[in-house]
Amino acid sequence: MRKSYFIIILPGDGIGPEIVDATVEVLETLQDITGWFSLIYEFHQAGAGCYRDTGKPIASEALEAFQRADATLKGPVGLPDARLPDGTEAGLLGGVLRVGFDLYANVRPIRLYPGVITPLKAREPNSIDYTIIRESSEGLYLSRGVGLTAAQAATDSMLLTARGCERISRFAFNLAREKTKGAPSDGKKRVTLVDKSNVLRSFAFFRRIFLEVAAEFDDVAAECLYMDAAAAALVNRPEHFQVIVTENMFGDILSDLGGATIGGLGMCPSANIGDRLAYFEPIHGSAPDIAGRSLANPISQILSAAMMLAHLGQHQAARALKQAVWQAFAEQRISLTPRGGVVGGPKAMVAAIKACLEKACDQAVSDAASQYAK
Ligand code: IPM
Ligand code: MN
Repeated sequence: MRKSYFIIILPGDGIGPEIVDATVEVLETLQDITGWFSLIYEFHQAGAGCYRDTGKPIASEALEAFQRADATLKGPVGLPDARLPDGTEAGLLGGVLRVGFDLYANVRPIRLYPGVITPLKAREPNSIDYTIIRESSEGLYLSRGVGLTAAQAATDSMLLTARGCERISRFAFNLAREKTKGAPSDGKKRVTLVDKSNVLRSFAFFRRIFLEVAAEFDDVAAECLYMDAAAAALVNRPEHFQVIVTENMFGDILSDLGGATIGGLGMCPSANIGDRLAYFEPIHGSAPDIAGRSLANPISQILSAAMMLAHLGQHQAARALKQAVWQAFAEQRISLTPRGGVVGGPKAMVAAIKACLEKACDQAVSDAASQYAK
C-alpha cells in the first residue's frame, strides 16, 4: 500500500525557493512513476527574509508544524545584510532547529559523481565516498548568541558533554556498520575521529569516550586524526575514509573542504537527525548573488530529499533517485560551471534527472529483487 507522509517545506532565502521547487518537481515525478509513496506538503516561511518581515527567523506555527511532520525539507537561508545587533547573521536556523530540537547528528555525505570535475588529481567516480558526522547539539557553536564581548576582548567557549560525545560516536559506528560499502581504498568499515586532543582537554575527553564506544564495535575499525592532519588527508587521500565523526565547528569546516573536492557545495546534501525529528538541507548558503539567474545547482537539495526518503523508510525510492542523479551525470546530460553552478540552472537539471528516473526506478526494483533472491 502506498504510504503517505506529512512533509514541511522551508524554501529559505536566495536560491532556496528555486532549488526547492526543482526538488519538489523531481519528487512528484518519482511518486507518479512508482506509486510507492505520497508526500503531503505544507510550506512555511523561514530564514533571513522571514526575520526581516516578522522579526523572527521562523514563526511559531512553523515550529509547531515542524514537530508534527514526518520530516522537513529545508532550503538554504541567510542574506548578507540581515544582521543581528551583535554582528552575527540573522535568520540562521541551526540554533533554533538543531540545538532546539536536539538534532545532534548532522550527516554529510561527500561523494564524487561521474564527470564532475574535482580539483584533485585525476580520480574515478566513487573514489571519494565518505560521510562526515558533524555533532551539532554542542561544541563551539553552543556559544552562539551567548559569548562575551567587552571593549578589548571577546570570548566564545566550547562545551562537550559525555552524553554528547558518546551518542555521536555510537551514531557514527552504527552508520559505518549499516553501510554496505566500506572505504573506497580498501573496502574496510572505518570510523575516524577528528579532534585536536594534542592541544585541548575537551578533545582529549572526546577521544577517550570515542575509544570506549569503539571497543563495542569490533567489526568496524577506529582511528583518530588531528584536525590539521585531517584537512590535509581529505585532499591527499580521501579514498581512505568511510565515516568521519567530529565536533560541530570542525565538521562545519571539513564538510566544506570535502565539498570542494567533489565539484562544490552544490553537490552536498545533509540530514539533521535526532531521536524523534529530522530535517534535510543542502550544506551551503543561499547564494543570493546567483538567485533567479538560472545558474543554481539543485543537486544538494535533491540529494537531501533522497536522504529524507531513506529516513522515512522509502529506501528503494531513495536509491532510485540517487541512481537517476548518477545517470544524469554519467550520460553527460548536464554540466557544472567552473564555480559549481549548473549550465541551464535548476530547470536543466530537473529535465536531465527526469529523463533518467524511469530506468533508475526499474533498476532499484531489480536490485531489490536480486537481493531478495540471494
Ligand atoms: C552549515 C552552515 C550553517 C552552519 C550556517 C549557515 C550557520 O554553514 O550548515 O554548515 O554553520 O551550521
Ligand atoms: Mn557550513
